[in-house]
Amino acid sequence: MHKDFEEDVADAAARVLETNWTGRYTVPATGLYPHQWSWDSAFIAIGTRHREPARARAELVTLLDAQWSDGRVPQIVYDVGRDDDYAPGAGFWRSATSGLVQPPVHAWAAWLVHCADPAGSAREGFLARVYHRLARWHEYLHGPRAGAVGLPVTKHPWETGTDNSPLWDAALERVPPEARTAIRRPDLQHAGTGERPGSRDYRRYYRLAEAYRDAGCADDVPIGFAMVCPLFVSMLAVSELALARMARSLPDAGGGAPSDVERGAGGDAGTHEATAARVVASMDAHLWDDDLGLYVALDDTTGERVRRATVNGLVPLLLAGGPTEARARTEASPSAGTTPAGTAPAGAPAAARAAVAGQAPPVTGRAERLLATLTGPGFLGGGPFLPSTSREDPAFDPALYWRGPAWFNTSWLLLRAVRALGRDDLAVRLGEHFAVAAPEGFPEYIDPDTGAGRGTRQFSWTAALTLDARLSDESAVLPEP
Ligand code: DGY
Repeated sequence: MHKDFEEDVADAAARVLETNWTGRYTVPATGLYPHQWSWDSAFIAIGTRHREPARARAELVTLLDAQWSDGRVPQIVYDVGRDDDYAPGAGFWRSATSGLVQPPVHAWAAWLVHCADPAGSAREGFLARVYHRLARWHEYLHGPRAGAVGLPVTKHPWETGTDNSPLWDAALERVPPEARTAIRRPDLQHAGTGERPGSRDYRRYYRLAEAYRDAGCADDVPIGFAMVCPLFVSMLAVSELALARMARSLPDAGGGAPSDVERGAGGDAGTHEATAARVVASMDAHLWDDDLGLYVALDDTTGERVRRATVNGLVPLLLAGGPTEARARTEASPSAGTTPAGTAPAGAPAAARAAVAGQAPPVTGRAERLLATLTGPGFLGGGPFLPSTSREDPAFDPALYWRGPAWFNTSWLLLRAVRALGRDDLAVRLGEHFAVAAPEGFPEYIDPDTGAGRGTRQFSWTAALTLDARLSDESAVLPEP
């Protein structure tokens, strides 16, 4: 693509982020989403870091300032002055934040933000400011949120970030579509009804949110929805590896002294890596579906796997290098790209050795199956863009939110995964998604067949991840500063 054009796109993306910046955080969209959203802020910081690294750091610090005393990082931090503009608002929660959470992309985002400007990050003591808070956030997920197989459960479809994915249909069927709250839909002023969840969905969403709120947001009270999501779990594993990187960069955060292992709160790098390995092993054991060739959700209430093919189940491809990858790279050399393969720790798996050598790890086993599913007819083999729900799933709808449209964050996640595996051909395919961002006005999502914009426009993470897709030359999921 012509360089001037690329610069125009980056400028246009940066302008969206500038418009949506409030001085402390970035709203996802000024009309539809007028508050701070948790995983949005993580993706936004990943893009903002290229042009405004101090702002990217502030974005994450502002979110973490709203952390609850139990460690949870809330789904929404409300601008109480705009409480009528989005529902449910602070009035519903009787709190300045929602009691729910969203996928834990934050530690990974913080590490990427640090890598973009290590000097500025050091000047502000950024890692020291965020590391313990992020570690406490993960402890909340590993503790009160741990379900029967030890993986964190989401207590509401809003927590998955993929609200109306077919993965939640069966569990939602059991929730009576009756809420006590009068439901307002300000969202429908900013996106078509055929592009947003329906009123029956909303009655169930409210019913669950009321039950959780009325239980004081306690996690030991069953409210009728407890789902393990492969996207959520993958983010936790990648973020756990990011915490390991941070711990090694911060001597006083448990950077590896043996006595630090017992220190509790912060933990140390080895503990984070062991946790990531446990999470990945459990995900492999309980969420893999060999017929569909991807990971699926697990219903923690019934113990049943939800056999639906969605983009959520492809995201574990990010972990194809294996959870030991980070350790092998760091132990061998701070500049992994130039380290001879032979310096990898004895017994390190082949993927880790290859990563140490700066090569793409060999693609084996489940990674190969995931790549086949990604390129198969349900996903990239069936049309130009990566749909949120497989084209072969009976619920597929190219316009309806998470039931078909292609989202920029999931294309970005898979882009990072295939780049790390050295699959430049697939990186080019996924990169095409970002080419339609500016012409379509930075839409929330697009039709996976035509590329037509859907949902709201001037959407912050679309702009941010377009910036990152264009400006980042990182090939590793977890780069070095
Ligand atoms: C919405 O309102 O659609 C959001 O996904 C909730 O976080």
